[in-house]
Amino acid sequence: MCVTILALETSCDETSAAVVVDGSKILSNIISSQVDVHKKFGGVVPEVASRKHLELINHVVEESLLEAGLEFGNLDAVAVTYGPGLVGALLVGVSAAKALAYGLDLPLVGVNHIEGHIYANFAVEPGLEFPLICLVVSGGHTDLVYMEKHGSYKVLGKTRDDAAGEAFDKVARTLGLGYPGGPLVERLAGEGDPESIKLPRAYLEKGSLDFSFSGLKSAVINYLHRAEQKHEEVNRADLAAGFQKAVSDVLVDKTIEAALETGVSTILLAGGVAANGRLRADLAGKAGGKSIKVNVPPLILCTDNAAMIGCAAYHKFLREAFAPLTLNAVPDLKLGEERYEGNFRRIVF
Ligand code: KG4
Ligand code: ZN
Repeated sequence: MCVTILALETSCDETSAAVVVDGSKILSNIISSQVDVHKKFGGVVPEVASRKHLELINHVVEESLLEAGLEFGNLDAVAVTYGPGLVGALLVGVSAAKALAYGLDLPLVGVNHIEGHIYANFAVEPGLEFPLICLVVSGGHTDLVYMEKHGSYKVLGKTRDDAAGEAFDKVARTLGLGYPGGPLVERLAGEGDPESIKLPRAYLEKGSLDFSFSGLKSAVINYLHRAEQKHEEVNRADLAAGFQKAVSDVLVDKTIEAALETGVSTILLAGGVAANGRLRADLAGKAGGKSIKVNVPPLILCTDNAAMIGCAAYHKFLREAFAPLTLNAVPDLKLGEERYEGNFRRIVF
């Protein structure tokens, strides 16, 4: 079967449209980033993000078809992220996708943004074998997920406070690096010594697969403040490197613990923080020592993009898990949950 899906993603500050065939052949993946618009505010301004999505959505859709060399008539379904995310931002993508699905008489597939991040892994390795452990690390999530089969998610652990990406962004702000913080911290850390400044690692109670990054973030802030009060020079590169290593150590150790506990032999990495070179290298290194395989999406599929939504949507399409045209944005949508308004099941002949 050859299934061509147009996917839209507008949950935060990237306006993106992609055309994906059979869940892994990415014909186009147009990402219009609003980073420059939000940069001057030091973070994403929700209202501004919604307005920008409105301006850009039609352009990215047109561009995605053009690049794919296809027309609306070649599509089999329209997919869209309907949560979690910023409600106003999500609504732009959801409204556009519903209009397209209605106008073109195509099935609509509602996708969870986090599910999309996970499925970026299937774009490169469509034949990944279950069960799998996936570490999802983004600006809003830090989840350790057990997948028994497609569409099945058991959250084994999650952050109790800051998400890993959020900690990167806050530490970047403290270091005066700007937004988005992750890549800037990584670049600075590359010039520093990760062992020079000792920072805490929160492993929590024995056996817990939960995370906590607020203590580490506060330790970085306190370190800088104490040095300022004593008029001491701080090696910011060493501090960034120490912070990055502390985050990576806990994420990697708990992910491997989860794989060993569940007897899973393949780990997936997903979400914006999965773009971090230190984390990718540490995970591959430590998992390799335990004969566990690690799959990591290419950098462009780690941060927000519509192709990953198209990959996840394909498997929902196969299960005929379609959304009604009353689909709404669900800002707090949980992984594995479907929250559609009304009951609707579309039969495809
Ligand atoms: O998945 P994503 O693009 O958006 C959300 O769904 O949140 O993730 C964005 C997060 C931000 O916190 C950003 O600072 C972080 O991912 N990030 C990184 C890197 N690239 C992006 N964190 C560490 N190292 C990176 N190279
Ligand atoms: Zn994301």
